[in-house]
Amino acid sequence: MSTSPDYLNSLFSLRGKVAVVIGGTGELCGAMGEGLAAAGAEVVLVGRNEEKAKPRLDRIHAAGGKGYFVSAEASEKAALEQLLATVLARSGQVDIVVNGAGVNSATPFLDIAEDEFDRIVRINMKGVFLGCQIFGKYLVTRGQGGSIINLGSMSGVVPLSRVFTYSATKAAVHNLSKNLAREWATQKVRVNTLVPGFFPAEQNRKILSPERVTSIMGHTPMKRFGEAKELVGATLLLAGDVAGGFITGSEIIVDGGYHAMTI
Ligand SMILES: NC(=O)c1ccc[n+]([C@@H]2O[C@H](COP(=O)([O-])OP(=O)(O)OC[C@H]3O[C@@H](n4cnc5c(N)ncnc54)[C@H](OP(=O)(O)O)[C@@H]3O)[C@@H](O)[C@H]2O)c1
Repeated sequence: MSTSPDYLNSLFSLRGKVAVVIGGTGELCGAMGEGLAAAGAEVVLVGRNEEKAKPRLDRIHAAGGKGYFVSAEASEKAALEQLLATVLARSGQVDIVVNGAGVNSATPFLDIAEDEFDRIVRINMKGVFLGCQIFGKYLVTRGQGGSIINLGSMSGVVPLSRVFTYSATKAAVHNLSKNLAREWATQKVRVNTLVPGFFPAEQNRKILSPERVTSIMGHTPMKRFGEAKELVGATLLLAGDVAGGFITGSEIIVDGGYHAMTI
């Protein structure tokens, strides 16, 4: 093994790779996309709202990186198939896929309406299922490996109060990631789950009441929220075949110690 500066530089280099970041118009996956671009990947930010992608793409381009926006509804098979076709036509390949589109709600369990339940399951769970199926099929068929990073949550590990449907969908994402990691390991298509703790973002801002924030801080040894850029290190570890080549079926928790806190 070499520990030369060249080897260390190559550990996290994504030069020549193409990363599709579904949910890349949002706070966390947008920052992850920016990090992937900084490591040399061409990054495709995917969501439904192009306006949200623009400042992020401006920063990526200003830093000398490559990236563009593609609109897609993450819970529709035809839309994701079209997304893959669009990226292949424009960039010629896909190597890294982030499945991070997500929605949340904080309805008391007995009041959850069927349409609310269906919407969260459709986007958070079916969306990741379809993203893995469509991009996983491409990666497996291509035969050159690849990395799929699914966005889980601490609520998929330990049940969190008030986010019942969300927690159930995230537990499903954790399970699916491990299942596919085993399935595709010999084809070098790695599937891992990135597990953020608490990061203020659009989808959870309305849930973060003052009482809930106090409760979260009481369970977070670092006594603060995460910043989106603090997910970049773990993202690069999972994305790259040099640093992360033997990592599959893993859950990388980035939560300021939340999961380690009991009493
Ligand atoms: N923030 C946290 O503390 C936290 C903790 C654990 C896990 N997570 C997970 O991290 C991921 C990113 O969340 P975030 O906190 O960064 O939230 P966010 O800022 O609200 O970003 C979520 C993104 O998902 C996209 N999206 C939602 N529904 C979609 C759909 N039907 N089709 C396509 N795109 C859709 C939205 O893009 P458009 O508006 O452009 O459609 C939005 O930009 C989610 O999976 C979330 O569950 C977050």
